[in-house]
Amino acid sequence: MQQAAQPVVTDNVSALAWHDGVLRLLDQRLLPAREVYVDCTDAGQVAAAIRDMQVRGAPAIGIAGAYGIALQARLVGQSTDWPAALSEAFALLEAARPTAVNLAWALKMMRDRLARLAPEADVPARLLEAARSIHQSDHEANLTMGKLGMQLIRKHHKSPQNILTHCNTGALATGGYGTALGVIRAAHDAGLVDTVFIDETRPWLQGSRLTAWELQREGISACVHVDSAAGHLMKTRDITWVIVGADRIAANGDVINKIGTYALSILAMHHGLRFMVVAPSSSIDMGLENADEVVLEERDAEEVFALGEQSVDAGVPAFNPVFDVTPADLIDVIVTEKGIVERPDTKKLADLMSHRHLH
Ligand code: MRU
Repeated sequence: MQQAAQPVVTDNVSALAWHDGVLRLLDQRLLPAREVYVDCTDAGQVAAAIRDMQVRGAPAIGIAGAYGIALQARLVGQSTDWPAALSEAFALLEAARPTAVNLAWALKMMRDRLARLAPEADVPARLLEAARSIHQSDHEANLTMGKLGMQLIRKHHKSPQNILTHCNTGALATGGYGTALGVIRAAHDAGLVDTVFIDETRPWLQGSRLTAWELQREGISACVHVDSAAGHLMKTRDITWVIVGADRIAANGDVINKIGTYALSILAMHHGLRFMVVAPSSSIDMGLENADEVVLEERDAEEVFALGEQSVDAGVPAFNPVFDVTPADLIDVIVTEKGIVERPDTKKLADLMSHRHLH
């Protein structure tokens, strides 16, 4: 089978890579203690890796899903009815996680690509190209957003700033470079970052395990705190920006992101800090009027109990919502690769998505 000619550009840190017919994932459950790679050869393995958080972060699970379809097509080899041959793979991947729209978006791109192929096309090769293109475009979008977000910081500040971030939005969560962390990286390169304060992000600790690991490798000064310290830090540490990613953005600008983001937006408003959301346009769901309609993932209570040793008395129940909704009116700016939207609302987002937006 023909391989796509150009390799996908990635970072020093890579959440996922295509190698000789295999999707190689860096197992994010084991970082920072161990760097272990897992190889997936079919869509079922990719769906399990997404569900079990070996790969996570909205753009990264979309890219993984696309490669999952490419893997499955490779296994099938030849078919006279490709939609039927891949329907189970699509269904498995679509069901892997419900909230980040990037997964559904990437799978729709793969379905559309399949539907447009001529009957004589080399379907596995074309689907692999499509997956690689989704991967490559995400990386490029992140570089663009990094620059736009950095310019926005520079518009307000000329000296290094303290920034607070949540969860992990870096190369590990994307096709490379990162969304919110991409802006932080670009701002750091422009001399605009003093210290990045990182919420540890319970219960999976994406902040302390993953973001701190990435920033350390980038040589960016960072400091981890427990989630409940965020308000105190905003009050005492001269933080000027809160910069986060998104799993889905509704048509009115409401943002669904990692649990705790909503509380941060309220704290930021109280303390007069700017609140920036950075996400590619593949995270914007124009079919969703506002974010209250969306399924917010709830995961197993065991994730709350297990923090090394048992952290809650046996028999006490736990609630483990993993995302929340930040209403548009608490957001100062949304940065996408298509441009910047200040004080987001339905009209401004519609303009952005129809390319009428100027930045
Ligand atoms: O549960 P996760 O780790 O997949 O959640 C990730 C987040 O909430 C990120 O902030 C979001 O996906 C943006 S990643 C660029």
